[in-house]
Amino acid sequence: MPSIPDIPADRLPDLLRAMPKAELHIHIEGSLEPELIFALAQRNGLSLPYPGVEALRQAYAFSDLQSFLDIYYAGAGVLQTEQDFYEMGMAYLKRAAADHVVRAEIFFDPQTHTARGVSMETVIQGLHRACRDGAALGVSAELILCFLRHLSEKEAFETLEQALPYRDLFIGVGLDSSELGHPPEKFARVFARCGELGLRLVAHAGEEGPPAYVWSALDVLKVERIDHGVQSVHDAALMRRLAQERIPLTVCPLSNLKLCVFPTLQAHNLGALLDAGLVATVNSDDPAYFGGYVNDNYTQTFAATGLNAAHAYALAKNSFEASFAEARQKQQWRAALDAAFEQATR
Ligand code: ADE
Ligand code: ZN
Repeated sequence: MPSIPDIPADRLPDLLRAMPKAELHIHIEGSLEPELIFALAQRNGLSLPYPGVEALRQAYAFSDLQSFLDIYYAGAGVLQTEQDFYEMGMAYLKRAAADHVVRAEIFFDPQTHTARGVSMETVIQGLHRACRDGAALGVSAELILCFLRHLSEKEAFETLEQALPYRDLFIGVGLDSSELGHPPEKFARVFARCGELGLRLVAHAGEEGPPAYVWSALDVLKVERIDHGVQSVHDAALMRRLAQERIPLTVCPLSNLKLCVFPTLQAHNLGALLDAGLVATVNSDDPAYFGGYVNDNYTQTFAATGLNAAHAYALAKNSFEASFAEARQKQQWRAALDAAFEQATR
């Protein structure tokens, strides 16, 4: 589609919801809704330090990344069996399908589970079974294993070792958890090994951390995508590099709002990233905790910042370009995207 005619602001939300899109930054443990946390706790005979679903939801008031991570890791503690992981994955994929997500590249945090005595096999097989069943919902889904950066590189190597028997069941590795004080270079050797194994490489960088962390994710870890990356705007040379090399950023506006990375959604820099020519995408990060799935991220951010139909098209197109799917598959999604816009602008 060469040029995108503007469409009236009141018709934009429907188009944002209906257009096909990829979601490339979703932590599956962050899709655990309070209702499912309570149901799994009951099934597994665990007690929670909250009287009920509403009380738990009330606790979701965060001041920064760490204040969220503390409650997020506690919530993930209810997951015990392969069936638990499967049900969590399916619940997300059903929501994603409803949002016209045709491709999901799903993060999981195995160390959160293996540290509690849950086996790597249980985690990966349960999530893999959900990804397989996602196809029947119209979602092509793949897994990306994330190393927790607040732990050591040695522990990351041990985690990789445990996961290698299931090498065919995940497409890449990422780096998440507490960013400040844990720069990418801490994981240089384990990422080099993952690269040799043919795994796709991504890392969270520039969420709360400085542009220097984005540089080292690129230069030391050799990642292909940056997760978040919103702090890159503070470094003009970095912005030029991201644009020139078409290195995608998986941006998560509602996450940034809830973790106080930006004071308001109006202040979010998604529009600036797009206008600077970056391959920015919109994603939900941890939708159960941040008040919205991917379509909520699109519609709320567009309403707050005044982005237009051309931005919408660019974001969906970027999401396919940035995905690790095969070229032929990407072409088909692009054609479906063009069809959605042609219909909406007719
Ligand atoms: N794990 C889950 N969500 C995360 C985020 N937004 N940043 C870092 N680690 C995470
Ligand atoms: Zn994230």
